[in-house]
Amino acid sequence: APADLMRPVPAGVAPSILAANFAQLGEQVGSVLAAGAPAIHVDVMDGHFVPALSMGPQVVEALAGQAHDAGAYVDVHLMVERPERHVAAFAKAGADGITIHVEATPHTNYALAAVRDAGCRAGLALCPGTPVQAVSELLGEFDLVLCMTVNPGWGGQRFLEGSLGKLERLHMLVGDGPALEVDGGIDARTAGACAAAGATIFVAGSSIFGHGDPAAAYRDLAGTVRS
Ligand code: DX5
Ligand code: ZN
Repeated sequence: APADLMRPVPAGVAPSILAANFAQLGEQVGSVLAAGAPAIHVDVMDGHFVPALSMGPQVVEALAGQAHDAGAYVDVHLMVERPERHVAAFAKAGADGITIHVEATPHTNYALAAVRDAGCRAGLALCPGTPVQAVSELLGEFDLVLCMTVNPGWGGQRFLEGSLGKLERLHMLVGDGPALEVDGGIDARTAGACAAAGATIFVAGSSIFGHGDPAAAYRDLAGTVRS
C-alpha cells in the first residue's frame, strides 16, 4: 500500500494465533477481533532460525480479510533465516507489518527497506541475548522494535524478568517514535510491568488462546495495559 494508506502500528494487546486452535482459526480470530483486538500476531518459524516449523503466507492470506474488515493490523513476526527472501510473499498475503530478527540476516538494513518498499511497516526484533545497541545503526529504518521477552521458538514460556531493564534501555535508545513491542510470557502480571517500562504493544498467545474464553481473556489483559 502507498505510505498514506498504510495502517499505523496500533497500541495495545496483539493476540498471537500460535496458541489458537487451528481447526477453529477463523472463529477464534473473530472472537478476539469482536472484543476489540487492534492487531493479530502471526508467528512464522522456519525450522532453522528456531527449531520449530509453524505457518506461512497462506495463513496470513486466510485471516487478513477478516482482520482488515475489523480495522485490525496484521502483525507478522518472521523467525526465519534470511527474512528478506520472504518479505514479498507476506506483503502480498496481506501483512500490514513485517518484523525481521536482527540475528537472522547480515543484511538488516536491506531487509527493513524491503519491508517498507513492499508497502508494510518495518519491525526489528531482538532475542533476549542480543544487546540493545544492535539497533543503533538502524534508527529511522524501522517503525517498530520487538523486544523478545522469552527465547523465540515456542509459546507458553516464562517471561524473562531481565527484559524489564532491557526495555527501558531500548526505549531510551529508540525514543518515542517507533512502537515498542513485547512478545513472550505476557499475561496480566507481566503486561503492566512492560507498559511501565515503555512497551506499547503486547503480544499474547497462551494467556489468550489457552483460555476457555479468548475474548474475555483479551479484555482482561487489555484492561491491565490501558493508560
Ligand atoms: C514465540 C512467539 C510468540 C508466542 C508467544 O517465539 O514469538 O509470539 O506466540 O506465546 P506466549 O504468549 O504463549 O508466550
Ligand atoms: Zn511472536
